[in-house]
Amino acid sequence: MIVVMKANSSEADIQHVLTYLEKHGLTGHLSQGVERTVIGVLGAIGPTGAPGSIGGLNPAVGEALEGMPNVENVVRVSKPYKLASREFHPEDTVVEVPAACVSGGVVRIGGPELVMMAGPCTVESEEQLMTTAAAVRKEGAVILRGGAFKPSTSPYGFRGLGEEGLKLLAKARDEFGMAIITEVMTPTDVAMVCEYADILQIGTRNMQNYMLLDEVGRTRKPVVLKRGMSSTFEEWLLAAEYILSQGNRNVILCERGIRTFEKTTRNTMDISAFPLIKRLSHLPIISDPSQGTGRRDIVGPMSLASIAAGSDALLVEVHPNPDEALKDGAQSITIEQFRQLMPQVQSVASAIGRQFI
Ligand code: E4P
Ligand code: PEP
Repeated sequence: MIVVMKANSSEADIQHVLTYLEKHGLTGHLSQGVERTVIGVLGAIGPTGAPGSIGGLNPAVGEALEGMPNVENVVRVSKPYKLASREFHPEDTVVEVPAACVSGGVVRIGGPELVMMAGPCTVESEEQLMTTAAAVRKEGAVILRGGAFKPSTSPYGFRGLGEEGLKLLAKARDEFGMAIITEVMTPTDVAMVCEYADILQIGTRNMQNYMLLDEVGRTRKPVVLKRGMSSTFEEWLLAAEYILSQGNRNVILCERGIRTFEKTTRNTMDISAFPLIKRLSHLPIISDPSQGTGRRDIVGPMSLASIAAGSDALLVEVHPNPDEALKDGAQSITIEQFRQLMPQVQSVASAIGRQFI
């Protein structure tokens, strides 16, 4: 259920609604738009996962709310995800990330400007990270990616440098002014990763790790939530709902390809995700054409397609020597390929009336 307040409603009117909700064991989540305030009503979310069911609320609650001062109307949200839905928040959410390398010191994801995030799949060494960071920054990237805690299908595969990798990322931020995005894999690591990262990444394998989603939801850090490799839009938006319902509104979705029968690519990039998610949700959505294809030769074309379809940013894996990469070399583009990619994505961006920051 959402409570739409009239345009002239006062703080006191809003507080009146919130107090009533609290008294009835419910939580009100505010969405303050330019025009009006909307209050999303959720049931209490307890350790057992008591549902944040808006549809299941007592009808008497709706009636009482409708009669309150300056309440315009009370609307049932038809989707199972509430806070992530466009109905709750008609305007686009713009997530702000601090980055010293841009004028004003803030990168906005989900606004008119497009954002380039690039860097190695995995932090391997100081030299590898600094070389890549210098190169991608020079071409216009404003956010540096790099995994320190790496998921690995095989227990014998490289699993990252851990905290040492985070320290190197922080060093690169100091040197180049880029914001840092890196994956966090367990709830117990969230506090530590938050000390170094500007954006937390939840990987495809953890999209439905609900304890992890709860924990990042309790922070206020921007979170990139990758689509589960076999997840529907609804499951993905419900995963986002976990983070939002804990109070963290800084959620960014990332399409990174899904499992299909096709084996020519590592995953099948679902380009329809960009326009469709924009209809279903107010959250920004970005593209990872590296994981999405698994193939260096088509990272470029899929980057262009993602921008054309409405992606708000790109997350691209770049390596100074991909053939020697410890992880995902086949899908990492070279520094030279990245240099060639930037003007191409700028051209597509301007064709649709946007531009990269
Ligand atoms: C991301 O970089 C992951 O760690 C990587 O793609 C996992 O690859 P794997 O499933 O081959 O181990
Ligand atoms: C990554 O970007 O490092 C990663 C592990 O991606 P995904 O979770 O999409 O496989």
